[in-house]
Amino acid sequence: MMQPQIILLKDGTDTSQGIGQLISNINACQAVADVVRSTLGPRGMDKLIHNGHKATISNDGAEIMALLDIVHPAAKTMVDIAHSQDAMVGDGTTTVVLIAAELMKNSKAFVEEGMHPMIIIQGYQLSQKFILSQFQELSVGTDLVGGGQRVMLEKCAGTSLNSKLISAHKDFFSPMIVDAVSSLDGQMDLSLIGIKKVAGGSVTDSFLVKGVAFKKTFSYAGFEQMKKKFKDCKILLLNVELELKSEKENAEIRISDPSKYQAFVDAEWDIIYHKLDLCVKLGANVVLSRLPIGDLATQYFADRGLFCAGRVADEDMIRVGRATGGRVQTSVQNMTAGVLGECGMFDERQVGDERYNVFEGCPKAKTATFVLRGGTEQFIEESERSVHDAICVVKRCISSSRIVAGGGAIEMELSMRLKDHAMTIEGKLQHVVKAFAKALEIIPRQLSENAGFDSTDIINKLRNRHHKDKDLGKWYGVDIEKEGICNTFESFVWEPMMSKRNSISSATEAACLVLSIDETVKNPKHEAQPDKPAGRPGMAYGQGRGAGMGRGMPLSAAMGGKGIMGMGAGMQGKGLRAYKGKGGR
Ligand SMILES: Nc1ncnc2c1ncn2[C@@H]1O[C@H](COP(=O)(O)OP(=O)(O)OP(=O)(O)O)[C@@H](O)[C@H]1O
Ligand SMILES: [Mg+2]
Repeated sequence: MMQPQIILLKDGTDTSQGIGQLISNINACQAVADVVRSTLGPRGMDKLIHNGHKATISNDGAEIMALLDIVHPAAKTMVDIAHSQDAMVGDGTTTVVLIAAELMKNSKAFVEEGMHPMIIIQGYQLSQKFILSQFQELSVGTDLVGGGQRVMLEKCAGTSLNSKLISAHKDFFSPMIVDAVSSLDGQMDLSLIGIKKVAGGSVTDSFLVKGVAFKKTFSYAGFEQMKKKFKDCKILLLNVELELKSEKENAEIRISDPSKYQAFVDAEWDIIYHKLDLCVKLGANVVLSRLPIGDLATQYFADRGLFCAGRVADEDMIRVGRATGGRVQTSVQNMTAGVLGECGMFDERQVGDERYNVFEGCPKAKTATFVLRGGTEQFIEESERSVHDAICVVKRCISSSRIVAGGGAIEMELSMRLKDHAMTIEGKLQHVVKAFAKALEIIPRQLSENAGFDSTDIINKLRNRHHKDKDLGKWYGVDIEKEGICNTFESFVWEPMMSKRNSISSATEAACLVLSIDETVKNPKHEAQPDKPAGRPGMAYGQGRGAGMGRGMPLSAAMGGKGIMGMGAGMQGKGLRAYKGKGGR
């Protein structure tokens, strides 16, 4: 008897299932990891990403991936974990992507042999649980570190800066970074640390203001006559427009006698003079407003020995408030002296080609500002990202107050302990746990490869040392200076424990997530329209399904020839593969 045909999905819907689909997803994730692989560690390279308008040079995993604009749905997981690491810790984004990709790569053999993905997931979760239980023992509390917390924080900031463009100046930046974070209150809201960029000068011309600094705002006539330096200064913060409104051309005013028109104009002047008078009488030396302060007000304040700045950015206003204790006023009526902020010293100074308003010696300072200098825009932007990473690391160190040895030492020790633990597990899971342990070796391996060392040799030495020396062996990682292995704890390559914990948890989660997908359904309704111009070159949706990727290779072929047609994204121009200059694995 004929069975009626069941139509479940719309015509044109593309689905892909099974092992082929899984392998294709894993390959896509690995392609993403291949992009950032070479950036890991002190000898890692940087990437230059040009999006048609702007060129960015970066070593930061999260930044690179954000700029690549990846469209592959499974590969996006990698971008997500990099971002989550960035948000949680601020550093270690390359590490998390590499571990996740290695976990997926090691699971590929099991999948191809027919092991059910759920068993792999179970094994990985088991391994993760074991590893997280080891951190307490393998980390050192800040109180046990010689020199105390300050030294520890500077070293951790230095480790984070090691792999960045400004690594040569880490001794210059590390104390500043620790000072900046230490100036915050208990909540450690990092948005209260301002980073300002001024092109020109050398990196070592950068400085930290223990207070607030912002670029001089737009000013009117009268500005030059203003006093621009105050000791023990009182600051009034306003959200009020201090500008004389010109009579609107389309306003309708009915007057019987043309001479009465002057009364309207005078009233306007009276109002603004009254407002200005109130500000001066309050005893303020500096008046800042989110809204414009016009030429009449500027001249008025200048004549009375005050300084003013209008159109101050919101974030600067908030930070001035926090630093000086001033409260922003939305009206100048009924103000009391209590709303004024205070600072030890205010001045307007020249930084490079720009003028900066600087508030220092703030009694209630819970904020700090970096003024970064450098030759090129890209350099300063990368410096900003690097300083930001280090600031986050210091924050994490303060909050978790435990550190581990970097340079692959912690990963190697965890790997060895996990391998030993695997011997206590029976059945298929044992192989999966061992695969997890092997995946962790990717960090020391990649660090050595990026430094041009023989990674196999280094890994063997590390395995040997960690296995033999039960006491100090756990601190041994890659010696970047001398091509070998060394006690990275003694060479002060310290990282916050929280960063490593988070990277292993996120990487495991991502690997398990990708392994749990057995089918992808692509709905034709949301497909990219072929006529639409591609967005960013490189990774944007291109010519629809099956269009060439990079060097004319269909994405599906690049991803192993299986699975949904490259999950729909035809890559136009230089795709990810072309970017790496490799074919699909
Ligand atoms: N002097 C050093 N010797 C050996 N390894 C080092 C040294 N300094 C840093 N490392 C290691 O380099 C790795 C960090 O590299 P990198 O900063 O490039 O990547 P990430 O922190 O994972 O990602 P990102 O900084 O892009 O967010 C860590 O494993 C760290 O232990
Ligand atoms: Mg880093």
